[in-house]
Amino acid sequence: MNILQTLRDRFALALADFTDDPQTFAAMVRPAQGAKFGDYQANCAMPLAKVHGTNPRELAASIVSKLDLSDLCDAPEVAGPGFINLSLQDDWLWEQSQSLASDLRLGVPATEQPRNIVVDFSSPNVAKPMHVGHLRSTVIGDALSRILRFLGHQVTTDNHIGDWGTQFGMIIYGYKQFLDEQAYADQPVAELARLYRLVNQLSDYHAAIEKLPILEQRVHEQRELLSDAEAVEQPDKGHKKRLKSLRADLAVATESIETTKRNIAAVESDPQLMQLANDHPNIARGARDETAKLHAGDVENTQLWEQFMPQCLNALDAVYDRLGIHFDLTLGESHYQPMLANVVADLKAKGLATESDGAMCVFIAGNDAPFIVQKADGAFNYATTDLATIRYRVEELAADTMLYVVDSRQGEHFKLLFATAEKWGYTPEMQHIKFGTVMGKDRKPYKTRSGDTVGLESLLDEAVAKAYEIAAANDDAKPDGPELDEQTRQEIAEVMGIGGIKYADLHINRESDYVFDWDTMLNMKGDTATYMQYAYARTRGILRRGEIDPEVLRNGEATLQFSHEAERQLALKLCQFPEAVAAAAEESRPNLLTQYLFETAGEFSTFYEHCPVLKEEDESLRLSRCLLVDLTGRVIQQGLELLGIQTCEQM
Ligand code: ARG
Repeated sequence: MNILQTLRDRFALALADFTDDPQTFAAMVRPAQGAKFGDYQANCAMPLAKVHGTNPRELAASIVSKLDLSDLCDAPEVAGPGFINLSLQDDWLWEQSQSLASDLRLGVPATEQPRNIVVDFSSPNVAKPMHVGHLRSTVIGDALSRILRFLGHQVTTDNHIGDWGTQFGMIIYGYKQFLDEQAYADQPVAELARLYRLVNQLSDYHAAIEKLPILEQRVHEQRELLSDAEAVEQPDKGHKKRLKSLRADLAVATESIETTKRNIAAVESDPQLMQLANDHPNIARGARDETAKLHAGDVENTQLWEQFMPQCLNALDAVYDRLGIHFDLTLGESHYQPMLANVVADLKAKGLATESDGAMCVFIAGNDAPFIVQKADGAFNYATTDLATIRYRVEELAADTMLYVVDSRQGEHFKLLFATAEKWGYTPEMQHIKFGTVMGKDRKPYKTRSGDTVGLESLLDEAVAKAYEIAAANDDAKPDGPELDEQTRQEIAEVMGIGGIKYADLHINRESDYVFDWDTMLNMKGDTATYMQYAYARTRGILRRGEIDPEVLRNGEATLQFSHEAERQLALKLCQFPEAVAAAAEESRPNLLTQYLFETAGEFSTFYEHCPVLKEEDESLRLSRCLLVDLTGRVIQQGLELLGIQTCEQM
């Protein structure tokens, strides 16, 4: 049962006498901030009193008089300026927590309104090597899919890979011009990645050479503007603000010159690259032409594409396997190509797309930039594909909800996409589940020392290697000597390393940029997967040492007792698991679940500190505590599983 939801429902009934919008005010019931305020607290009386122009404490008392909570709470108390404090009756809480023992769903109710949800996540551009940025979408999308599925929704995971974009033109160009056949025979994907990087670098070089004088001119002008502004003798009101924005502009322009110069120097300092750059002055155009030929059905390029694709997909699958992530569908951009002309024709026929500067555009009220669905050269684009995808998901997959787990920087695209789809008559619930950039400790996008964005596979290897050291050191330091054999240590390292990386990503608010930091990631004591995995293993260890069969506890042979405040607090926390799962699903925020698990592990530590378990002499109290230990372990394990993180019985 979701206790919070039950309380809110009861409040909504009572509040109907005080407002037209009882739901909003009922949502102001929250878990209490500390035990002295009871178990839950409602602060709706203060804002409501403002609306009515009455005394908040009196209003709180009136609300209480309408509330019917007598079956689950002690009499509500009005406190401070008008808080309503709620304490669950011990008997009621006992019943709730006791019922968890035999409940495979740990109290989480299945939804009464199952939806058909497509979760679009990971979705890398396949011809480029996957990097740490893709990890965010992959890990967050997988967690949300698991949570929604657990709640009883029908979930289809769809990896909308970029398998048709301009990067293929680059690879095809590279393949035709620069292929190292031996390298391709040995490690095809690595060689394709090298070709991609090479063509990219040479194109960037020529672009940089062209751009540099323009950038320098701009910096020059901005400097002058700034020094003019600085020389003003009688500054007006907006002066400071103007100076600040001029300085910021200058900083951005200077930074972009630096990058441009770096791109140039990287090629010019390497005679071989320089030679290639000179031999291929129009490489960017060449790569674009290869893409256009592929899209036009050119036989040679189509064959190359068909040859590259399985290799690229295999490389991706290796990473997904390692992460334990499964997709129901991998319908990439190429899947929708045959449908694109029809999408545009349909938009045109319905009067939604109109021509502007040769391109076909959909104009959305309130937006300056149109949504371009066909470029002036006739090419379809990312937008056209995404529209075809929405139609496909609605018509073929019967989806009523679509979640797109994609970088925040694509916010504008999704805003226009959803608005266009709606005008077009496709009105499933569509949400852009945004996330921030992965940063290094220096607060810049995460890079290796050599300056490459970090490839995913080496990152996973590194995590596991670091985890191995920690697990081994921990085992070596055990008071009675090490307990784990080599194979077990390696299994633990894999679970801990992969789990650590996932959790680090999941436990922060997804919209924030996220600082990738090895030092905190595998910490045994912080808000980490490692801490949670150890807490789980500890619960298993206790039962093992006590030779307690968990099945016996679960079958009703142990009866919970609240003999100490810490037992009651832990039981309450365990009963709140459904609240955490529901909140994480509602807001598409896995961090609400990690936060809950972290708090649960904290309550468990407090309990374990104050309440002896195996040493407790009273047999029934000992069993009660064993049951709490078992329940804690199950909640942590289930919670981690919903995040795609595994556990070990022993660590
Ligand atoms: N391939 C895109 C990228 O790497 C992400 C695709 C997201 N999904 C979508 N339906 N647009 O930026």
